Amino acid sequence: MTNKLDSNRAATIEVCHGPQCSDYGGRKLSEELAAMGLDAVAGDCRSQCPNAPVVFVENRMITKATASKVDERVKSYE
Ligand code: FES
Repeated sequence: MTNKLDSNRAATIEVCHGPQCSDYGGRKLSEELAAMGLDAVAGDCRSQCPNAPVVFVENRMITKATASKVDERVKSYE
């Protein structure tokens, strides 16, 4: 299975900014991703709070997300 996108667009990144993910660093993670040049949108709670912070890259979830996990996933689409 390939992760390549059909077009030249960047992979979509959504960082949960719900209460639990915010408490567990979701908002700080958004800032880290921006500093790395990765555009992410803020998302609402996806009922995956025990896995906070959660990030979705191309709508595929990363649990207990870190900037390096997100970067690795994004690179898998390049
Ligand atoms: S607060 Fe992020 S999944 Fe619920």
